[in-house]
Amino acid sequence: MKDAAPQPVHLQEYAPPAYLVDDVHLTFRLDPKATRVSARIAFRPNPAAQDRTFFLHGEELTLVSARIDGQDVTPKITPQGLTCAVPDAPFTWEAEVDISPEANTALEGLYISNGMYCTQCEAEGFRKISYYPDRPDVMAPFTVRIEGDAPALLSNGNPADSGAGWAEWHDPWPKPAYLFALVAGDLRAVSEGFTTASGRPVELNVWVRPGDEGRAGYALDALKRSMRWDESAYGREYDLDVFNIVAVDDFNMGAMENKGLNIFNSKYVLASPETATDRDFDLIEGIVAHEYFHNWTGNRITCRDWFQLCLKEGLTVFRDQQFSGDMRSHAVKRIEDVLQLRARQFREDNGPLAHPVRPESYVEINNFYTATVYEKGAEVIGMLRRLVGPEGYRKALDLYFDRHDGDAATIEDWLKVFEDVTGRDLTQFRRWYSQAGTPRLKVAEDYADGRYTLHLEQHTPPTPGQPEKAPQVIPVAVGLLNPNGDEVVPTTLLEMTEAKQSFSFEGLAAKPVPSLLRGFSAPVILERETSAEERAFLLAHDTDAFNKWEAGRQLAREVLAKMTTEDAAPGPAYLDALAAVARDDTLDPAFRALALRLPSEDDLAQALANSGITPDPWEIHAAREKLKAAVARHLAEQWPALYREMACPGPYTPSASDAGRRALRLTALGYLSRLDTGDEARRLYAEAGNMTETIGALSTLLEIGRGEEEIEAFYARWSADRLVMDKWFALQTSLAPPQRAAATARALTEHPDFDWKTPNRFRAVIGGLSANAAGFHDPSGASYELVADWLIRLDDVNPQTAARMSTAFETLGRYDASRQARMRAALERIAAKPGLSRDMGEMVGRILG
Ligand code: ARG
Ligand code: ZN
Repeated sequence: MKDAAPQPVHLQEYAPPAYLVDDVHLTFRLDPKATRVSARIAFRPNPAAQDRTFFLHGEELTLVSARIDGQDVTPKITPQGLTCAVPDAPFTWEAEVDISPEANTALEGLYISNGMYCTQCEAEGFRKISYYPDRPDVMAPFTVRIEGDAPALLSNGNPADSGAGWAEWHDPWPKPAYLFALVAGDLRAVSEGFTTASGRPVELNVWVRPGDEGRAGYALDALKRSMRWDESAYGREYDLDVFNIVAVDDFNMGAMENKGLNIFNSKYVLASPETATDRDFDLIEGIVAHEYFHNWTGNRITCRDWFQLCLKEGLTVFRDQQFSGDMRSHAVKRIEDVLQLRARQFREDNGPLAHPVRPESYVEINNFYTATVYEKGAEVIGMLRRLVGPEGYRKALDLYFDRHDGDAATIEDWLKVFEDVTGRDLTQFRRWYSQAGTPRLKVAEDYADGRYTLHLEQHTPPTPGQPEKAPQVIPVAVGLLNPNGDEVVPTTLLEMTEAKQSFSFEGLAAKPVPSLLRGFSAPVILERETSAEERAFLLAHDTDAFNKWEAGRQLAREVLAKMTTEDAAPGPAYLDALAAVARDDTLDPAFRALALRLPSEDDLAQALANSGITPDPWEIHAAREKLKAAVARHLAEQWPALYREMACPGPYTPSASDAGRRALRLTALGYLSRLDTGDEARRLYAEAGNMTETIGALSTLLEIGRGEEEIEAFYARWSADRLVMDKWFALQTSLAPPQRAAATARALTEHPDFDWKTPNRFRAVIGGLSANAAGFHDPSGASYELVADWLIRLDDVNPQTAARMSTAFETLGRYDASRQARMRAALERIAAKPGLSRDMGEMVGRILG
């Protein structure tokens, strides 16, 4: 029999908890099959609550005993939890349950990864460990005792006491259950001391498997820099005696900010020059910072309920972006962040999965850890900062920490501190949190008698459940350039609040060229018809680095769109502008690399769909290949020189400047290889001294349809290294030529090393195929079928990771009838699977609409 459809939870239905928790004591007797968890919890009625029902969440737990104030009780148990009659006064609840970490393949709650115990509780995993009010607005100090025969026995807070086979931890900071963590296993610490600004000594440890000690240094270094940065940028210090990071191989997400005990996907901790690329180092730095910054934005101040997820995630992403910008280059970081935003969030916001930054209902909260909540959530904070200025922002944040430390807060609380500090009314600004969809900003202009006027018009297309949108506050940063290239009006912030609004600039001697939305000042799609010459002019002269890059990108998109739909040849405006960038050695190499790269196939599909054209992924792929060849030929003389000049002398360092040189060098190699049939790339593969070059050479070869020998050599060299092998799998599926992608992926799923229950490996193969735009959209439907087969299979084992990957189908509405029908058929097949998870059921239901 099919279960009744799971009911959604609504923001409007929030009610305060009936009981609060003053204290939690947990004892774990670890055993792979039957871990005994004993809880002693001090409850008291919540004076702020109406309801007096005593309900504890609990799933997949075997209750052994329960007592209230020492007396045995017999609670009423359901699959979701238990209820029990309780005194109308404070009382002590004690319960013992058995759980099986070994049987836990969903990687939520307590599970075993590669022989080590670990936990993932956000959002609602704690209820698989103990009966508890598993909601973020119930906060308590935790004391944890772990009994087990492992060298490392870790939990939150400070170490309290330990002996042979046991350890106790005490976390004095009241926290919600989702921040609970436990780790036990054969782990080694790579350690260092740190002293906070006010003089508190802190022991920092990165815990890894024996043998991985040499790969923990960069994470440790990033941690120290993050701690220092949060002190100087936000005045926030660390608040415990130890800070532990653990690397785990099987993990559904990137990492988790458990209080004092961050748990990471090992891919975002372990790095050495031989095994990790520049991109890996960059991600490690950003994610270590992100999780550390959560200590204040997430842990000290948490969320009242899961609808407020962006309160901690949007803010923490914004903070990690600021940090990375400070560590590296702000211009390059901004471009990379916008590339990500468009690739993931705009895509989401313009399809069936669109939802507000603060959603109003969900069936499974794990489905809402999205680019919209995270990345658009961060953009909203960036806009707020732009509107109130850096000083207003800092004051508002000081007030936020001061007023809400120890609270489970809401978006209303967050906006109120800005209103109180700046006196600004943010009623309209709130729409950024409640309205889904990417606003379109139409721009027209006129010029007469020295007066230049911009006419702006905003419109946000309908999204599921939201047919009509009201105008939003859009900060539009604008600069004006003279026809000779000089800037006549420096960056000025226009505050658009109406559906239609005009802004004038006086006293201009000639009609200026506008540089609009500088620094990408709002997450909108700019719609402005202009000439290729004007874009090339901005690429050459704009003083705003983001818009300089954006001009080139826009130019490339238009060229590609024409090549795709009209089979046109790329015009000289674009090719000459690119040549100028390639030659300009006053520009940061990292910036040049970004400017020389073409928009992705999915980016172009998005752009075509936005302008009402049905994209054909195979034609896009072919056009992009042609453009690459044309760029290669146009700059044929320069690539070898650039490739040589950008070599980094000396040993590998992951510094931003060396990474930028390598990025430009590998970009040059990519073009070069279209002229020399891959000779140089083969040479680099053979001589490469670090993983960045190895992967650069190998992917270059795969992109031109070669590299078979190198793929074998790579396997022979690295087959024992899981993280490196993930790269090997992902490269082959994501870079396979469109006609061969499905077959390549299918063959890799039959490879003995395809450990599909490990999320990283599954994502490498199935996620790699989904990321291969032309390959995934094979007109035969072979890739849709393969992905659906594997999502169905994974759904029984790990619904969270499976559901997340169903977003491969979120672009359904863009494509031609035949592709749509095949995508629909694949989705319907998933929907019809007996016992489909709530996670997947919600996703597929939303995509099918
Ligand atoms: N809070 C974590 C982070 O962004 C993400 C954990 C999400 N986990 C989940 N199961 N949805 O740092
Ligand atoms: Zn986070």
